[in-house]
Amino acid sequence: MSKVKTSFYCQNCGAQAPKWLGKCPSCGEWNTFVEEVIQRSDSPVKTTGNFKSTESRPKKIEEIEQGNEQRTSTGSGELDRVLGGGLVEGSLILVGGEPGIGKSTLMLQVTLKMKGRRVLYISGEESEQQIRMRAERIGYGDPDCYILTETNTQSIFQHLETVQPGMVVIDSIQTLQTNIIESTAGSISQIRETAAEMQRFAKTTGVPVFLVGHITKDGNLAGPKILEHMVDTVLQFEGDRNYGYRIIRCIKNRFGSASELGIFEMRDTGLREVTNPSEILLSQREDDVSGVAVASTIEGIRPMLIETQALVSTAAYGTPQRSCTGFDTRRLNMLLAVLEKRCGFRLGTKDVFLNIAGGISVDDPAMDLAVISAILSSGEDIPLNQHICFAAEVGLSGEIRPVNRIEQRIAEAEKLGFKQILISKFNLKGLKTDKWVIRITGVSKVEEVFGILFR
Ligand code: TYD
Ligand code: MG
Repeated sequence: MSKVKTSFYCQNCGAQAPKWLGKCPSCGEWNTFVEEVIQRSDSPVKTTGNFKSTESRPKKIEEIEQGNEQRTSTGSGELDRVLGGGLVEGSLILVGGEPGIGKSTLMLQVTLKMKGRRVLYISGEESEQQIRMRAERIGYGDPDCYILTETNTQSIFQHLETVQPGMVVIDSIQTLQTNIIESTAGSISQIRETAAEMQRFAKTTGVPVFLVGHITKDGNLAGPKILEHMVDTVLQFEGDRNYGYRIIRCIKNRFGSASELGIFEMRDTGLREVTNPSEILLSQREDDVSGVAVASTIEGIRPMLIETQALVSTAAYGTPQRSCTGFDTRRLNMLLAVLEKRCGFRLGTKDVFLNIAGGISVDDPAMDLAVISAILSSGEDIPLNQHICFAAEVGLSGEIRPVNRIEQRIAEAEKLGFKQILISKFNLKGLKTDKWVIRITGVSKVEEVFGILFR
């Protein structure tokens, strides 16, 4: 009789246990353990994939040939930027995002635009016809690209040997299946093993591999942390589905800065790169309206002007509501408490809604002053001067705190035609204010801001 070897895996964090557990001892989640078949005793044990691995031996550090850190362009400036300047040979890149956000579109676009190397696009989710149709929408010239619909890694490695691509895209890691393990595709043990096979392939052949990964409901990469430490780079694709804008963020990068960010716009012909984000994030307004303030923020190394909109209204029922889109609600509550205490602003009976234009979310502390100004403006129902923008953090005692890279923020504000920028007094130190045309005003307390805005 064949004996089946099984093990239990937490579907949230990947922890393994010999028996079922109600609560995961590693991540504390309940009811996440699932039994997975690892190996049947009658099936021959295969220990390695199909490609040959080179023999290893310890080497002295200076003996090791210097890898060419040379970067290849992916044909997309925004993607190159998040990758830290382009594609590195032999790197394994995970692209995560919610279903329907545009991961397949982006990867197919890169496949079609890649110059000078053959790309193999392996899809386990769509048929060849579907991919062709999508490619027609995106449009392509004369790419050297092959499409393969296959999920078994052993047969994928065979095809890799014949096609000899210079880059591989796998859409998605959750559909891959290896013969070594018998559990179903998408289970923790399959994801772990197939990703490890792809990692070995990338490292031994020097061919860069993109893995597309789905994100679970609560925003984690499915098959989660186990993948993050295995890959060189983790990119996350995000955006509000109701808006056309998509942001690709770097969460981890072994070959560059992890705070980079690229912006795309989803059109009917695929993703268009957005090279000047400030222009799209500032909504076109003709008249002065109250409750709108512009912040000069930095995402990664990129300055962006972002519009914040606040609505303060009398609470109709009991507990007032506080609601944020694109901003941290706890931070809003803190700023409201500061306003209440320092400016004598009675917000206890008011509903406060806050919205960041363009459906993006930001966590730059330099947003604080703009958020406070937008709330004050809406509360007083007095529009702010359209030509003022803000860049400062607000502390608990109502002090206006300095933020980093102030020169870049000022330069971006000036470039977009703002006449005045409010920053922290501490940021004025060593700043050559006569270099700019824009008026730079340093403030140290929230109360002062009130005076400047509503004189
Ligand atoms: P897709 O790349 O299939 O998402 P994922 O692989 O992340 O699940 O993107 C699907 C969405 O993108 C779908 O809602 C349709 C939209 N889309 C466009 O708006 N224009 C296009 O040219 C393409 C190809 C897709
Ligand atoms: Mg897809």
